[in-house]
Amino acid sequence: MTNLHQVSIEIIRQGQADSGGYVASPTFSQYGFSWLRDGTWTAYAMQLVGEHASAAAFYRWAGATLMRYEAEVEALLKKLAAGEALVETDFLPTRFHLDGRMGLDDWPNFQLDGYGTWLWGLVKAVEGGVIDAAGWQALRPAAALTVRYVGALWQFPNYDCWEEHRDHIHPATLSALYGGLMALRSLDPSLVDAVLPAAIRAFVMQQCVAEQGHFMKFLGNSEVDASLLWTAVPYGLVTVTDPVFQATLAKIERDLHVPAGGVYRYAADTYFGGGEWLLLAAWLGWAYVELGRHAEAEQIYHWIENQALPNGEMPEQVATHVLDASYLPYWEARWGTSACPLLWSHAMYLILGSRLQEVRS
Ligand code: BGC
Repeated sequence: MTNLHQVSIEIIRQGQADSGGYVASPTFSQYGFSWLRDGTWTAYAMQLVGEHASAAAFYRWAGATLMRYEAEVEALLKKLAAGEALVETDFLPTRFHLDGRMGLDDWPNFQLDGYGTWLWGLVKAVEGGVIDAAGWQALRPAAALTVRYVGALWQFPNYDCWEEHRDHIHPATLSALYGGLMALRSLDPSLVDAVLPAAIRAFVMQQCVAEQGHFMKFLGNSEVDASLLWTAVPYGLVTVTDPVFQATLAKIERDLHVPAGGVYRYAADTYFGGGEWLLLAAWLGWAYVELGRHAEAEQIYHWIENQALPNGEMPEQVATHVLDASYLPYWEARWGTSACPLLWSHAMYLILGSRLQEVRS
């Protein structure tokens, strides 16, 4: 039998460029870039499995990449201070070439969640000894720059973590910013004014809870999105036992979790037909671990393993129970078959495995 733990580590290693950036997928036509979001989860997984050098190289790459665009951030802040209207190219992108250059294509780039994610992961890496004191000092300016950037923009509508719905405000994105800023504040209080994460949290609690008591997909849309799991795990905007999280989880289970299967992103998803995402299944499993629902987490872990190809590669999503099959040929004609392997899927599999390992013993 393929050792999926080892194969996952190997696929991630092979997907890391000499620069330190991780490719989102080495084979999928659109994913030959390093995203802050995917990359941070991949680095966190590598940290948990003891591959510290790989994780550290990613954070160094991300830090150097962001510092390369310091002048762009300053220009944006200046425009904001002068009350000038921003245009799409003023924002930093969601993904970079593996050598740190910005892509010049018109990808839906203005997405803030990855900036919170990278702060969160960076702090975990410092706390976990992946980055030593000197390494942290070298990365501190990039963290400070990120705080200024997200601090100025968090109230602006921006694309969600699925790179959609540009004109809305997404609580999952805000929870990533909250989690990143709170983590950074605990490491180095001088970098984050307490007012900022407190304001983000207050906004989410006051504006982003639907009448039914659960977090909403975006402001004005009372559906759920599986990324709302982030509000508690790992970003801690609420605890897993908070009634709003409990109501959100119950709706995700009802609307998005295929019995004994995977997890949809959201009910109206049509990307590659809207299949079950491995990384979201892992997220639900992670939430179950935190809730002490270990048997359900184990079941999900095995479901993920069963979706791997015989050579161990894990896809982004599987098409066994797609929400709208008519969209599959559309996407396949446009971009080829769905991404496989996807490093983020392997990463979340390793993260869930590592959490399960801790609670099994
Ligand atoms: C997903 C993003 C992801 C990107 C690269 C997109 O299809 O919606 O969340 O960051 O792929 O994996």
